[in-house]
Amino acid sequence: MDMKRPLLFAHRGFSGEYPENSPLAFQMAVEKTCADGIESDVHISKDGKLVIFHDASVERTSNGTGFIKDMTYDELLALDIGAWKSPAFAGQHIWTLGQLLDFCKETRLLLNLELKNYEVFYSGLEQRVIDEVRARNMQDRVFVSSFNHISMQRFKELCPDIETGLLYDKPLLDMEHYIRRSSADNMHPRYMLLQYQPELVDLFHSRGMKVNTWTVNDAENMADMMRRGVDCIISNHPDLLCRVADEVCG
Ligand code: G3P
Ligand code: MG
Repeated sequence: MDMKRPLLFAHRGFSGEYPENSPLAFQMAVEKTCADGIESDVHISKDGKLVIFHDASVERTSNGTGFIKDMTYDELLALDIGAWKSPAFAGQHIWTLGQLLDFCKETRLLLNLELKNYEVFYSGLEQRVIDEVRARNMQDRVFVSSFNHISMQRFKELCPDIETGLLYDKPLLDMEHYIRRSSADNMHPRYMLLQYQPELVDLFHSRGMKVNTWTVNDAENMADMMRRGVDCIISNHPDLLCRVADEVCG
C-alpha cells in the first residue's frame, strides 16, 4: 500500500545549496525541486517594514552587523545576504514579506511563515502579517507558526481563517493538556521528538491537528517521518526530499 505523501517544504528556501531566505533560494526551490511550498521567517525593521530573515541580528548571514529591530529598511536592503555563503551568490538582497507573498502567489507555492517573535517581541507582528496576507487573499496558501505560543493564540483570535502552528524543540510535559488549552490548528515538532514520543502523531491527529515537522535533512529520517504519517516535512534539501518521497510514497 502506498504511503500518504506529505507536503514537501523547502526550509528558508532551498537553503542547503543557496543562501537561506534569499530570493535565489526561493527561486531555486521552484526551479530545481518539486517542493510544494517554502518555510520562511519574518521580523520587523526599525521603521516598521516586515522583512524576511532568519536571525534577529544580521551578522551570520550578511555583510552587516546589528539587530533588525534597530535597522531601517534602507539599511537592511543595502546588505548583501548571499556572499557569506559563496562569492558566487553575492548581490542577494533582503525581501519584504510582501515580495515573498507575491512570489508565492505567482509560483503557486504554499508558504509556512514563521513569526520570529520569541527573542525580540515585535509589537503588532500578528496583525501586520494578517493584513499582508489578506490584502492578497492568500489565507488558504499561508500557514503561520511560532515558538511563541502566546502569539499563536493571539493570531488565531485576530484571524480564524489562517492556520496556526505551535513550534517546539524540546519534550514537554502533558502534551494532551497543552494542546487542549491551545487554539492552534497544527503542531510543528522538531522531527526527533516524534521518534522520542511516537504516540504524539496519533494524539495530534486525533485532535484534528496536522503534524508539520522540521528540519529533516537526511534520507533515512525523511523516510522515517513519511512512514509515521506526518503531514508536512520541512528540509534544507528539498531536492533529496522529493526523491525520497517518490521512493517511499510512490
Ligand atoms: O519552522 C521550522 C524551523 O524553521 C524552526 O526553526 O530556527 O530554523 O527557524 P528555525
Ligand atoms: Mg524558521
